[in-house]
Amino acid sequence: MAARNRGRKLASTDTVNDTHVKENTQRKPQEPNSTDAPIAPPKSGFILKLSFFFSIPYFYLLFYHYKIEQELKRSILINAVLSLAGFFVTLKLIPVASRYVLRRNLFGYDINKKGTSQGTVKVPESLGIVIGIVFLVLAIIFQYFNFTADSNWLVEYNAALASICFMTLLGFVDDVLDVPWRVKLVLPSIAALPLLMAYAGHTTIIIPKPLVPYVGIEILDLGCIYKLYMGLLAVFCTNSINIHAGINGLEVGQTVVVASAILIHNIMQIGASTDAEYKQAHAFSVYLVQPLLATSLALLSFNWYPSSVFVGDTYTYFAGMTMAVVGILGHFSETLLIFFLPQVLNFLLSLPQLAGFVPCPRHRLPRFDPQTGLLTGTDDGTLVNFFLRQLGRKSEKSLCIYLLVFQATACCFCFVLRYFLAGWYK
Ligand code: UD1
Ligand code: MG
Repeated sequence: MAARNRGRKLASTDTVNDTHVKENTQRKPQEPNSTDAPIAPPKSGFILKLSFFFSIPYFYLLFYHYKIEQELKRSILINAVLSLAGFFVTLKLIPVASRYVLRRNLFGYDINKKGTSQGTVKVPESLGIVIGIVFLVLAIIFQYFNFTADSNWLVEYNAALASICFMTLLGFVDDVLDVPWRVKLVLPSIAALPLLMAYAGHTTIIIPKPLVPYVGIEILDLGCIYKLYMGLLAVFCTNSINIHAGINGLEVGQTVVVASAILIHNIMQIGASTDAEYKQAHAFSVYLVQPLLATSLALLSFNWYPSSVFVGDTYTYFAGMTMAVVGILGHFSETLLIFFLPQVLNFLLSLPQLAGFVPCPRHRLPRFDPQTGLLTGTDDGTLVNFFLRQLGRKSEKSLCIYLLVFQATACCFCFVLRYFLAGWYK
């Protein structure tokens, strides 16, 4: 009901809104139709070549550069093989799921193609549900290869999975019911509850060395406030991905870039450390991020320009929560926030509209010119519009590439920063 009322209200104030259709609360579902048009084939060849190229430095670090215990390498490799299988399963499932969501009228129109024939195509929405399910199956099966029954990690691992699962469910609920965005903001804090309640790790933070003389202590126990911080991190990661969106390939692309950076960071930390618990924390992150990356790459091959499927809030929330969870349990949330630099900038640019000081339309996307096929930046406070205003008009595909290169630059900046601050900062 809420979705229906909101749709009507927005339709009168925002002309762009009428291109965004999630109608399953508004229309009677159609009967299954055997003549459903198939979606365009995935660009999986290109994605596989790109992944192969980028996996070389990763496996070099894992197998040659660092001396990592055989046992740990074995677990990471098993997880990588499972993830690869997950990639192919996801590739197969997305076209099937697309037919089902279209039958239930869960689709959107591509706003950045409005005025062209592509803009009239019903693009299946919420395909993140496939990624969420495949990811959870992989993560659950993997426990068999790594953990013993009395492992302390198993409790937190399963709590992390419960939070990710809960977030995927709430994301899907949002896609179906189109909940008001202020409600969207709090959904991740509810989904984070299983992890927050089960978390039994330390609640201390190490004070940066330059600040120790002023604070007077080296380690500060935050107690309950630490849990609040964890919850806020989950809210930030999920929503910041969701609002840095709306360009074909951007939601999944940013996740792929950040997940790759997390993996490299994890292997570097495992390789450089002698502390078993510290290594375990980073290995834990690898076990969740490899399946996230593999399944996301499969989704990207359908979502890359021109998108044949949309990911939905199901995916943006799922991906954000997975990365927040590994940042929390791997104890590298500060590093994660630097990987998220474009999302932080997008959030800061968005603040006036999010806080209600400036009117916030349903979609804060650029203006598309069907004649030239180029996008022009609008006054809406997003990084997408900011890039267009600074760099001039761009096609959707090249704008997405620019934004992803910027994301990768932020990740490289983080590695350089860590290198120079090592020993001095902490
Ligand atoms: C968030 C943003 C909104 C942005 C939207 C795009 C805020 C507060 N909200 O809203 O400004 O427009 O994401 O995802 O910043 N779509 C495309 N091309 C794409 C991806 C999506 O046209 O590549 C459109 C489709 O019509 C799709 C819809 O966006 O159906 C999905 O929007 P939704 O995820 O529901 O928007 P929000 O997350 O609420
Ligand atoms: Mg969204």
